[in-house]
Amino acid sequence: MRLPFSRMVWFVVMVFLMPSVAWSAGDAARGKQKYQELCGACHGQSGKGDGPTAAVLPVKPRDHTDADYMGKLTDQQVFNTIKQGGEAVGKSPIMPKWGGILTDQQIMNIVVYIRTLSGSSK
Ligand code: HEC
Repeated sequence: MRLPFSRMVWFVVMVFLMPSVAWSAGDAARGKQKYQELCGACHGQSGKGDGPTAAVLPVKPRDHTDADYMGKLTDQQVFNTIKQGGEAVGKSPIMPKWGGILTDQQIMNIVVYIRTLSGSSK
């Protein structure tokens, strides 16, 4: 049986889009862009906690590729830390507060992106 080409294209598109539907609340590509722009200095461009400033910080920025650790955090917890800053959630005040700088949507995008770094979720 031969499927018309347009059907095949559609099928391929659907297969690739399906897993991302569940995550439609956030856009990982946009999250990555913002992350590298704003968070990379401390957390590192690839999120390993090894940004240029990390060496001189008394508290090390979190390694977002650590699946064991990140797997224990809910999306809401990660979201709150980013929005309210470290101090508000009982962590180091070195982790800045991004609410007011980033919209909730932009923070959601970053949460979704951070999840892709460790492949973990909760
Ligand atoms: C000035 C350096 C700095 C910048 C910039 C920074 N962070 Fe952090 N971040 C930290 C430090 C230090 C910690 C660790 C706090 C602790 O463990 O007490 C942290 C912790 C976190 C955590 C908490 C993980 C956990 O333990 O619950 C998240 C999430 C996070 N950062 C996301 C971000 C995002 C997203 C951005 C950019 C929008 C960002 N950070 C920018 C320094 C920074």
